[in-house]
Amino acid sequence: MSKITFSIIKADIGSLAGHHTVTEEQMKAAREMLGEAKAEGLIFDYYVFHVGDDLQLVMLHDKGENSPEIHGLAWNTFKEITEKVSKRDKLYAAGQDLLAEAFSGNVRGLGPGVAEMEFEPRKSEPIIVFAADKTEPGAWNLPLYRVYADPFTTPGLVIDPRMHQGFVFQVMDLVEGKVVELNTPEELYDLLALIGTPSRYVISRVWRKDGLLAASASTTRLSLIAGRYVGKDDPVLVVRAQHGLPAVGEYLEAFAFPHLVAGWMRGSHVGPLMPVGLKDARCTRFDGPPRVVALGFQIADERLIGPADLFDDPAFDWSRRVATEVADYIRRHGPFMPHRLGPEEMEYTTLPQVLEKLKERFRPAEGQ
Ligand code: F6R
Ligand code: MG
Ligand code: MG
Repeated sequence: MSKITFSIIKADIGSLAGHHTVTEEQMKAAREMLGEAKAEGLIFDYYVFHVGDDLQLVMLHDKGENSPEIHGLAWNTFKEITEKVSKRDKLYAAGQDLLAEAFSGNVRGLGPGVAEMEFEPRKSEPIIVFAADKTEPGAWNLPLYRVYADPFTTPGLVIDPRMHQGFVFQVMDLVEGKVVELNTPEELYDLLALIGTPSRYVISRVWRKDGLLAASASTTRLSLIAGRYVGKDDPVLVVRAQHGLPAVGEYLEAFAFPHLVAGWMRGSHVGPLMPVGLKDARCTRFDGPPRVVALGFQIADERLIGPADLFDDPAFDWSRRVATEVADYIRRHGPFMPHRLGPEEMEYTTLPQVLEKLKERFRPAEGQ
């Protein structure tokens, strides 16, 4: 079979009850527009879902990555739903993530988040889409490290000869706009030296050592595009599983520990990433805690089969309980770091406006 492209493009274009959830009307409109694109032959298949206030468009097609036609379809879908539904229903922050006035061939840099992969499907091709709300792309760093470089999570790294050589991680420096490839296990410590700073260095792609593409993640940081706080990036991630790649369960295992991520209330707080099924993919307490869903698909020629709602399972009840306890513990720090983010991150929020007011009241501390 020839190559196919799996794209997920998402945006927050306004939501119900503050930043809580996308409405059924918005989802219906998205399904209609992608349905038309399928009928016209632009895309093979699609799936529409949401995580909290982010509308997610999954598209299967043969136009390759960064296709102006596919990105244009997503952009127009978001624009039209903003105009026809979000604004009509006075949803909160209508059109929030559409930072540009006009589409210029690619949604990267315009606000929406994108994760895409072009590849030749294997005989059977299990794919998982991870999508999170109220956090940033660096939230994937820890689980991706665990999946592709930690045998305590992925015994396949030890047991399966097809994975035993390890993986290549592409890390993006979001500040400089540069990428670097690092080989594991040889350069494990160099990799960790970078990705331990998830606000700046994010894993954007992962390949098996033989070149097989395994993962592709969104890298949008809205605050760096807009120069101010405009809602959290709420990243997406696409991975391929099984048969010489990590098993579906090895991917999910990396999320059983609800690690701390940046985002949550006002995009300014650290909190646990809670794995949930679609029915619970809506943020509540303190606009959170941040959530992640995992949807499993199979690709059957030009059809998407699924999804399976993989975190909708009692096996993740313990993770959710720990996340709730950690949320409660860290919440008690109120406006103090390390619950509230550090000054570098807060630069993009409205905090500097508050600090500015105090500036002239400061005087030299001599003799005190
Ligand atoms: C986090 C998020 C929310 C808002 C908060 C205040 O990503 O979107 O936590 O930051 O609800 O929103 P505004 O300033 O719109 O009232
Ligand atoms: Mg929102
Ligand atoms: Mg969101």
